[in-house]
Amino acid sequence: MAAPRLRVLAAVVALAAAGCGAFEFQEATVEAIQLGFRNGSLTSAALVRFYLGRIARLNPLLRAVIEVNPDALAQAARADAERRASGGRLCAGGLHGVPVLLKDNIATRDRLNTTAGSLALLGSVVPRDAGVVARLRRAGAVILGKANPSEWSNFRAVKEGWSARGGQTMNPYDLSATPCGSSSGPGVAAAANMAAVTLGSETDGSILCPSSFNSVVGIKPTLGLTSRSGVIPITPRQDTVGPMCRTVSDAVHVLDAIVGYDKLDAEATGAASKYIPRGGYTQFLRADGLRGKRIGVCNVFFVGKDKEHLDVYSKHLDTMSQHGAILIGDLDIATNFSDLSDKEMLLMKAEFKLSLNAYLSDLLHSPVRSLSDVIAFNNAHPVEERLKDFGQNDLLDAEKTNGIGARERAAIRRLKEISANGLEKLMKEHQLDAIVALKWAASSVLAVGGYPGIAVPAGYDKEGVPFAISFGGLRGYEPRLIEMAYAFEQATKVRRPPTFKH
Ligand SMILES: *[C@@H]1O[C@H](CO)[C@@H](O)[C@H](O)[C@H]1NC(C)=O
Ligand SMILES: *[C@@H]1O[C@H](CO)[C@@H](O)[C@H](O)[C@H]1NC(C)=O
Ligand SMILES: *[C@@H]1O[C@H](CO)[C@@H](O)[C@H](O)[C@H]1NC(C)=O
Repeated sequence: MAAPRLRVLAAVVALAAAGCGAFEFQEATVEAIQLGFRNGSLTSAALVRFYLGRIARLNPLLRAVIEVNPDALAQAARADAERRASGGRLCAGGLHGVPVLLKDNIATRDRLNTTAGSLALLGSVVPRDAGVVARLRRAGAVILGKANPSEWSNFRAVKEGWSARGGQTMNPYDLSATPCGSSSGPGVAAAANMAAVTLGSETDGSILCPSSFNSVVGIKPTLGLTSRSGVIPITPRQDTVGPMCRTVSDAVHVLDAIVGYDKLDAEATGAASKYIPRGGYTQFLRADGLRGKRIGVCNVFFVGKDKEHLDVYSKHLDTMSQHGAILIGDLDIATNFSDLSDKEMLLMKAEFKLSLNAYLSDLLHSPVRSLSDVIAFNNAHPVEERLKDFGQNDLLDAEKTNGIGARERAAIRRLKEISANGLEKLMKEHQLDAIVALKWAASSVLAVGGYPGIAVPAGYDKEGVPFAISFGGLRGYEPRLIEMAYAFEQATKVRRPPTFKH
């Protein structure tokens, strides 16, 4: 007569798993994690074990993670002990005990490598944690590992989400669709519940695009709001580090933990620290955050050929109006900025060479010490670095540059003029709180101005491939962008977990 008893036992177990005190790991939010720590249903160690299990199971398919931190469980145990000793005070907010996955261009001074996905940088030793990592450690976060970035050898590799060390990152919604780069690993890992939260970085589109393709929320902060020290660079005029998470609220908790002044990125973080609101960013998670907001719909950010997408966007714009937003449609950016991309690329090449060489020379140890060493390394490893498929044109072009000369200074002036006469002027003239854009369509305009943007899941196409809507604004507009993004997310609830469709 064992069978009925077993059935009862099974029912009890099922009941417990259904929420009577048990912690639900799938889609767990930072706030649920904080609550789980407080009510005793969760430990940081259990959370780390869950994500390590997901990584072990899913990473052979998705290749979102390059390395897991061999010290993650020890860090979690320490966080659990600290929390018990503090009598609960330490989980009242923040990322204490929360496992964070970092894009592999963000330096950690520990047993993890920092390589931007390139074999050339394997074995390099960084002098210290990146500024944002130092902040995460002070907050008591657990460093779970490094996510697969796409490599910068060629723009195509970036777009496709490929790196020599990590391989091809896959889109968990549709394995035949691109995950987009270069923060493909963080985007996919967040989407597939392989980490609680992740950090990506953007120079132009690298957070917003993979967030769009993987149905996660990505915040590309105002230039300098988050430190770039210890981040393998492209250009200090555009690089920015930001969260990629399953919800706006999670992304905002991460943003709170990583913003602030850093003496190793003094100029940019010094200039942007005036934007950081007293009391942090979570106060802007308001369900009524769309009320009274003036949102500009610019034609240039809404040129889509796909009626299916445009229908979804037009429904979303209606939803925003219903929630009290004032939509100002049919806007045009008054200045002719058709030369933006050329100027951006010209500058990126010169600045990449300077900043990469500076990064490499600051390493305690490294197999490569300059861009030309990296190029020589790739030539010596053509198969591993897939030179036949991707080449390394962007590196070769960068190597040909010779610092910031008259042409580069003229390009900087031109980009400033495009920003001033373009987005800046438009937003001031119409007193806009934000512009909205299809997917990541505004990324270049936001990139060259150092402006912030937030991508929020907006829908799925016929094949099930996700797409986002993004909100963009002027420098320091994070509070209102967060209000709008959060209210939009709460009103639409578009995100659903991935289906791994073949
Ligand atoms: C503790 O909080 C979590 C949410 O984080 C919830 O799922 C769980 O049921 C709670 N457990 C108890 C014992 O209250
Ligand atoms: C860092 O790279 C070295 C060399 O390939 C490897 O032995 C080591 O396991 C890597 N570290 C981690 C944490 O994966
Ligand atoms: C914008 O400027 C480019 C040259 O930079 C020119 O070729 C193009 O015709 C201009 N477009 C308009 C609409 O004036």
